[in-house]
Amino acid sequence: MSTNSELIASAICVSNLNKTVVTQEGELTILNGINMDVKQGESVAILGPSGSGKSTLLGLLAALDTPTSGEIMLDGVELSVLNEEQKAALRKKKVSFIFQSFMLVDTLTALENVMLPAELAGVIDAKSKAENMLERVGLGHRLTHLPKQLSGGEQQRVAIARAFICEPKVLFADEPTGNLDSVNGEKIADMLFALNQESDTTLVLVTHDLQLAQRCARQLTMEVGHLTETTKSLPANDVHSAVEQTPHKAEVV
Ligand SMILES: Nc1ncnc2c1ncn2[C@@H]1O[C@H](COP(=O)(O)OP(=O)(O)O)[C@@H](O)[C@H]1O
Ligand SMILES: [Mg+2]
Repeated sequence: MSTNSELIASAICVSNLNKTVVTQEGELTILNGINMDVKQGESVAILGPSGSGKSTLLGLLAALDTPTSGEIMLDGVELSVLNEEQKAALRKKKVSFIFQSFMLVDTLTALENVMLPAELAGVIDAKSKAENMLERVGLGHRLTHLPKQLSGGEQQRVAIARAFICEPKVLFADEPTGNLDSVNGEKIADMLFALNQESDTTLVLVTHDLQLAQRCARQLTMEVGHLTETTKSLPANDVHSAVEQTPHKAEVV
């Protein structure tokens, strides 16, 4: 008999995913046999030490990078059969990404940065939508600032507003609260879960913030290129100890 979760479509389905790169020291295995299944509308946190492969995995899931081997289905589409143009079209239609390094366009104001994906998608009221989004992240008074005139936390909030504007089907976020104080971090977390609940957006968050991870339905842990389900009972008060361990290097083979 089918359970409810079997009836819900997978937003992301990964099987035996590997990523190896060639470095001056030889071949470096970053991801080693990753399997995961994320249902539409689910929220998943990926925890794990620095250097364990979390950002690499997120980039692959969002069709920004190409695996060495293995399969990724994103909203029912097998990524390996798509060319770069088709991947770009898929991303534009279904995916938003909040980068660890923000990736704002230096020459555009906060408002123009947030408007950009909406304009590309042909949204008519892109400007008022972008103003509203920046208001929601507490930056209504910074519309005409360039990224270099904003603090790290403010740039992160612009990147978050930009990721939200097209109401993506899947939102990938790489340490979305990493540069924020606790008040702004909580505000952003509230926005992420509002999007998750109101628009059924699937959330895949890489985070060191255990309070944010606890709010997700599932927690996964990356450890030297291997992903395991951790789920539940993370020590809520001990925000850093479980993840801020000695960084592991990915294994060299
Ligand atoms: N293109 C690359 N070439 C060489 N090494 C890389 C490359 N991309 C990532 N790495 C290495 O792979 C490991 C995992 O990186 P990353 O996915 O950024 O980890 P995390 O996000 O968990 O901190 C790190 O040791 C990093 O230096
Ligand atoms: Mg990273």
